This record gives sequence, C-alpha cells and structure tokens, in this order.
Amino acid sequence: MKATAKAHSNIAFIKYWGRKEETLRLPSNGSISMNLSNLFTTTTVEFRSDLNKDDVLVNGEENNAINSRISKHLDRIRMLLQKNIYAKVISQNSFAASAGLASSASGFAALTVAGVAAAGLHLSEKELSILARQGSGSACRSIPDGFVEWLDGNTSEDSYAYKLFDQSYWDLCDIVTVISKEKKDVPTSTGQQTASSSIFFQTRLNNIAQKIKTCKNLIKTKNFDEFGKLIEMEALELHTIMFTSWPSLIYLEPTSLTVMKEVKKLRDEGISVYFTIDAGPNIHIICQAKDIDIVQKRINSIPEIIETIVNQPSKGTYLLEDHLF
Ligand code: DP6
Repeated sequence: MKATAKAHSNIAFIKYWGRKEETLRLPSNGSISMNLSNLFTTTTVEFRSDLNKDDVLVNGEENNAINSRISKHLDRIRMLLQKNIYAKVISQNSFAASAGLASSASGFAALTVAGVAAAGLHLSEKELSILARQGSGSACRSIPDGFVEWLDGNTSEDSYAYKLFDQSYWDLCDIVTVISKEKKDVPTSTGQQTASSSIFFQTRLNNIAQKIKTCKNLIKTKNFDEFGKLIEMEALELHTIMFTSWPSLIYLEPTSLTVMKEVKKLRDEGISVYFTIDAGPNIHIICQAKDIDIVQKRINSIPEIIETIVNQPSKGTYLLEDHLF
C-alpha cells in the first residue's frame, strides 16, 4: 500500500537541547512549540516486495547520511510490522533543508505517519509521536495540532508530545527571516550531544520546569509581551549554551545580529515583537497578526535578507490522497 503524509515544521518556544538518553532520544528537558503553516514536508511511502533495499529520494537527491537515517527509521516501522520489506520513499520540503528551519522535524513526522499508514498499521497520536521522536526529537512535536508540549519522560512510553491548544487558539505569527540557505556545518544531532559540556547547562536544567510552567500559563492567558520576553530570553540562553559548549557552536551570522537588533528597535518604537532562534542563523520573529505588515516591511528592508516566510499556527501531521509517485 502507498500512503502520503504532510507534516509542518515547528518552532520551539522552550527548546530541546541535550539528551538524557541517546538511542531513544529522550531529551534532558521538556519543550513547547507551535507548528508552522508554511514550512512543511510531504512524503510518500510504499513498501514493495520487489525492492532489495530502501529506495529514498529527498528533495530529488540521494544523500547517504540522510538516507541511512531514514532507513533506520523505516526499520522501526518494519519491527512493528514484523516483516522485512523495503520501501520506496519520496519526500519534498517546502523550504531549504538543514539550514536550521527544522527540516528533520517535519521530515520525520511525515515519514512516520506515511510509513505507518503504508504498512497498514494503526497507531494513536501518542504512539506516532513516540515513534517520530526516535527519528528526530523535535519531530514528535509536529505530530499533534497547534501549540504543543513534549514531555521529557523517563522511558520511551512517557516521552511524547500532545496538543496544548488548537492552531486557532492564538493568532500569533512567525516571520522566518532567511539569512542563509547553506547547509549547517555542525548538524543539530551533534550539538545535542555536546550541550552538557557547557558550564551553564545544569543551571538551565535547574530552572526549566518553572520556565515551562510559566510559558504554558502565558500562552493560556495570551499575555503576549510576557510571553515574548520569556521566549526571547530562552533563545539567548540556548545560544549561550551553544557558545560555551566544547566544541563551541556558533550558528549565528552577522546578519542574524542585525535582525535581532532591528527587532529590539521595533520594540523601542512601541511595536510588540520578539525573536527566537533554533540551531541556525535564521531568525524567527514572533508577533501578533495585527502587526505583520509593519514588521515584515521593516525586516525586508535589511538588504542582506534572502527572504521572509510568514507562518501562522498550523495543524500537525495528516494523510493526503495525492501521492508523490
Ligand atoms: C535547537 O530535533 O533536530 O531546534 O533529535 O538530533 O534530530 P535530533 O535534534 P533536533 O533538535 C532541535 C533543536 C532545536 C530546538 C528545538 O527545536 O527544540
């Protein structure tokens, strides 16, 4: 059987950085995110008895590292199916992969949902989230709709993401400012392993439970300015950990700082706008729907910006009838 799924990438407001267990991808701490309407991956999977290995094409390319990570994930589905059968996989991103726009989140969420359906298996949303997590941690947050919390858990069964609020709950916007489309030189998975070498890592963990609680409460009460302040400080904390890990990780580019400063300038002018950043140079600008035009215009006037992509909160992962092959 053939199945196709569409998954949206997500932006973390509280970040996943560091793991307490490598093989199962159990994170050191819980995290909170929002799915993004215009950053997505569509994937078609078909298990076929005429194949003697997985046949995988991502964005029209065969890449050994990516393909072997995908085959490893297909192995998890084959284990559930209890059958050794290879798959043809075609996957297409709406955006440049590996530039810190969370291609692995939407990629592994789409692969999980399409793969499970193509295998004829029926899993609950929680089970799909647990499975997606093992492919890429942040992918588990792209399974449920809208605003999501990922529970860190102590076992595989209790480390999964669930919906906090539907996508229509709060009309937040994420204007993704694309500064570079280059592949990053240090993959996120490597950075996840060195996070604990930062002197600040334990301090972060000591405070994270309270921060998650506050963040959820600020979303619930739609307190935009307090929420914005919290997520901006969280992003700066993440990059402080990255700077002070060994080997140190410097994902920001000079233009990233230009955009960060422009956001602060807009704030000084009375516009409620904040930024967050993942493992890459691109800046996610978070504002309310009413301020999109003014914010986007200002950011687009920075000459070094390649493009801006406006996102609304989105659904999670779902099956489509239209297949890619
Ligand atoms: C900085 O989910 O890409 O974007 O589990 O190794 O695939 P792996 O890591 P990944 O890490 C995302 C890191 C982050 C923060 C976040 O999305 O929470």
